[in-house]
Order: sequence, then structure tokens, then C-alpha cells
Amino acid sequence: MSRARCLGERHTARAILCAAAAVLLVVRVSAQSQAAPYSGIGRTPTATEVRAWDIAIGPSGKELPAGAGTARAGAPIYQAKCAVCHGPALEGTKYGPPLIGSRTTLATSRPVRTVGSFWAFATTLWDYINRAMPRAPFKEGSLTANEVYALSAFVLNRNGIIGDGDVMDARTVPQVRMPNRDGFVPPKPDWIWYERSCRFGRCDPR
Ligand code: HEC
Repeated sequence: MSRARCLGERHTARAILCAAAAVLLVVRVSAQSQAAPYSGIGRTPTATEVRAWDIAIGPSGKELPAGAGTARAGAPIYQAKCAVCHGPALEGTKYGPPLIGSRTTLATSRPVRTVGSFWAFATTLWDYINRAMPRAPFKEGSLTANEVYALSAFVLNRNGIIGDGDVMDARTVPQVRMPNRDGFVPPKPDWIWYERSCRFGRCDPR
């Protein structure tokens, strides 16, 4: 019995059959998920392979590599490698989103989320440019650390967040205060509620 027919069904007998079919499906899927783990497939990655994938940069920036760059150094790189999609003034084109502005739109019913208006951490900007730009086959990940620092500095500078001679490096990128840094809800409101209620002795101590 097709799923589409089940969903549209009003007739009681059919509905019971549909429910039974759904239960059987669940039983089958869970039986499969308990099957023996795969064997003879894949292998443990080497340390070099793990290192090549392990490029995520967290808000503390402790994973940032050596290197440095300023907006001044980033400007010609941006024009050569990014402007074609993001526009010469970061205003966006049909090939890439704007990287600037729209700060006042966030609290409206049509928020425009750009690096300048929305992003909470400059480390995310570094990470994103490093892993995903320029967006073209085989070009992602092709930038050197110095280029990524310079391009991050350029985008931050054009958004009015840092000066055009400010050096961005492993120490300074995490210190950049993004305009929307405090615009996010806490990551785990239920946990915060739990901690607060504990202070009043209403929690269950574990
Ligand atoms: C071929 C077009 C193209 C080129 C070249 C390109 N980008 Fe992008 N870029 C995109 C597209 C498309 C997206 C949106 C991707 C998505 O949302 O999945 C994007 C997203 C971004 C974002 C995230 C924007 C946001 O708010 O989500 C940043 C930052 C960025 N690009 C920086 C750069 C930089 C720096 C360069 C130059 C090294 C560059 N891009 C080159 C097409 C391009």
C-alpha cells in the first residue's frame, strides 16, 4: 500500500491496515539497525588524513594557524578572487550573497543576514573562507593562511568592524567583537533554567 494512499485514507479498515503496515515497517527498520556492525569495510584513517579533515576553527581560535594579514593586503586578493561573485563593494551579485551591511534589518520581519549584520564570531569567517571559498570546483581550500587572514581582515574592515591596517592573526581574530555577538539566544536555555532553579534549591542534585 503506497504511503500517499495511506496518508489520504479516511476509511477505518484501510486506516487499520495502514497503521499495521507502519508498525511492521518500524519493526523491520529497528531489526536492521540492530544487525551486526559492518565488517571488512573501510579502515582506520591515518594521522595525516585526520589532520587534513580536522580544519574546524572554534570561537576561541585556538586552532588558527600561523600567518597574518591586513585589509590593505586583502583588497587586491578580494578583487582578483572574490569580486566576480560577491561584487566589487561586497554588495553581492546573482552568483554570491552580499558580505556587507543590512545591520538594521535584523530586528525586522525581513532580516538580511550578512557577515556584518549576523555572524557572531570572526573565527567563523576565517574558517568559512578557508574551507569553502573561492567557490569553484577544486578552488575551495586553495587559499594560503596569509590570504585567508588578509581576506577576513578585508571583509571585516569594509563592514566597519576593524581598521584597514589592523593585523589579523591567530591572536587578534578571536578578539574581534562582531556587531551581532549578543544577538543570539543562549545555546541551552533549558540548562540555564536548570542552573538558576538549582540556586533556589529546586533542582535534583546529581
Ligand atoms: C564562483 C562564485 C564565488 C566566488 C569566486 C567566491 N564566492 Fe563566496 N560565496 C559564493 C556563494 C554562492 C556563497 C553562498 C554559499 C551558500 O550559502 O551555500 C558564498 C558565500 C560566502 C561567504 C558566506 C556569506 C554568508 O553570509 O553566508 C563568505 C564569507 C564568502 N563567500 C567569502 C568569499 C571570499 C573571501 C571569496 C574569495 C576568496 C569568495 N567568497 C569567492 C560564491 C562565490
